[in-house]
Amino acid sequence: MKINELELVAQAKEILYGNLRGGFTVPTARLYPFQWNWDSGFVSIGFANFDLEAAFSEIHSLLKGQWTNGMIPHIIFHSETEKDYFPNWDFWETNVNPGAPNTPKTSGITQPPVLGFVLEQLWEKHPDNPQVVDFIKAVFPKIVDFHQFWYEYRDPYREGLVFIYHPWESGRDNSPLWDAPMNRIDLENANLPYYQRRDITIADASERPTKLQYDQYVYLLQLGKKHLYEGKGIAEESEFLIQDSMINALLISSNDSLIRIGKKLNLDVGKIEEWQQQSKKAYNDKLWNDSLGTYTGYDLRQQEQLPYWEIGGTSALFAGIPSAEKAQKIVDHLKELNNSGYFIMPSFDVHHEYFDSRRYWRGPVWPQMNWLIYFGLQRYGYPEMADIVKQDLLELVSRFGFHEYFEAQKHLVETTHGGYGGKSFSWTASLVLDLILAT
Ligand code: DGY
Repeated sequence: MKINELELVAQAKEILYGNLRGGFTVPTARLYPFQWNWDSGFVSIGFANFDLEAAFSEIHSLLKGQWTNGMIPHIIFHSETEKDYFPNWDFWETNVNPGAPNTPKTSGITQPPVLGFVLEQLWEKHPDNPQVVDFIKAVFPKIVDFHQFWYEYRDPYREGLVFIYHPWESGRDNSPLWDAPMNRIDLENANLPYYQRRDITIADASERPTKLQYDQYVYLLQLGKKHLYEGKGIAEESEFLIQDSMINALLISSNDSLIRIGKKLNLDVGKIEEWQQQSKKAYNDKLWNDSLGTYTGYDLRQQEQLPYWEIGGTSALFAGIPSAEKAQKIVDHLKELNNSGYFIMPSFDVHHEYFDSRRYWRGPVWPQMNWLIYFGLQRYGYPEMADIVKQDLLELVSRFGFHEYFEAQKHLVETTHGGYGGKSFSWTASLVLDLILAT
């Protein structure tokens, strides 16, 4: 398919500026009307190609929500009057924790730690720009504090692998990975507060998580609140307690970036190097599954791996974690999908009965994952496969627009749907633009 890259870049810029709300972008108007953590990291990378001030202020705005324990929350509610989202700031009640900022209001959980490698991306794009160095010096310690948060509050056995206790923290909200741990939650005796979803009044319900899943999300939110969003009781009580393949890969990748940046700027990186040494080894030892041929999450409650081929494991390539031999196994899987009628990369195992190519993280293609996989494949010496990952995303966006996520089965997009979820989506715009301008 012939793709007009200049036209895509022009549209992407328009979307990013259209989603700006005074210093930060919303992921998309209406469905997500505040600032999201890892979305903003990816948006900053795109902006860095043409508007450095916007790239900086995206991160500065996000860091306004950082807690004194180092956590950077998954949502920053810059407006307290915007009502079109659930769960809104008043439902989170983060004032249970004295370290949560009063302004801006935030959520009480976090999201994938992308900011370390975001900083390095910004610097690589502008190696001689003193403004970038000043920016990095200002935010570097805050990102180290964020990593400290992970290791201090989310690694109770000091293994070098951190846990999440809410699927929203994984960024892959309703992945089938989480079904078994989530279904252990005893909702009958949970006494859930009344709540009303907004997402399904804005997006198509068949493309969003189910009611059961929302009940489970609310249950875990309440559990976090009960333990002030940081207490030991979370690890003791939560049925959902996962050492996730992607969270840990991105933490490792961001650690590496912080180490390289810190060394160049003569900043102390001793602590980060210690974390890193332990984390890389533990990741390979505990999360690799040879019969699946990929990395997978570990369920701390059941003391076993989550037995599925799922997209999170591919982010290990981006982080440089696997040996050449393990990387080859992951790439073999991508090649097989490419040869059998799928856009790369479906977010869940296409051969599994839980695969659903329309419903959020149970099958669709996600732009930020393609961006991560693209760089992972380049890193391991697979430029042709990397190019397929890039071209598939550009094709989907050219044909269907800058959606939040996309149909993975080629034969379906011929006849019915292509793009799903929110439209004019910020990270889609940002990363399509980056893949065109920076690679
Ligand atoms: C949502 O609202 O669906 C988000 O993914 C949660 O952060």
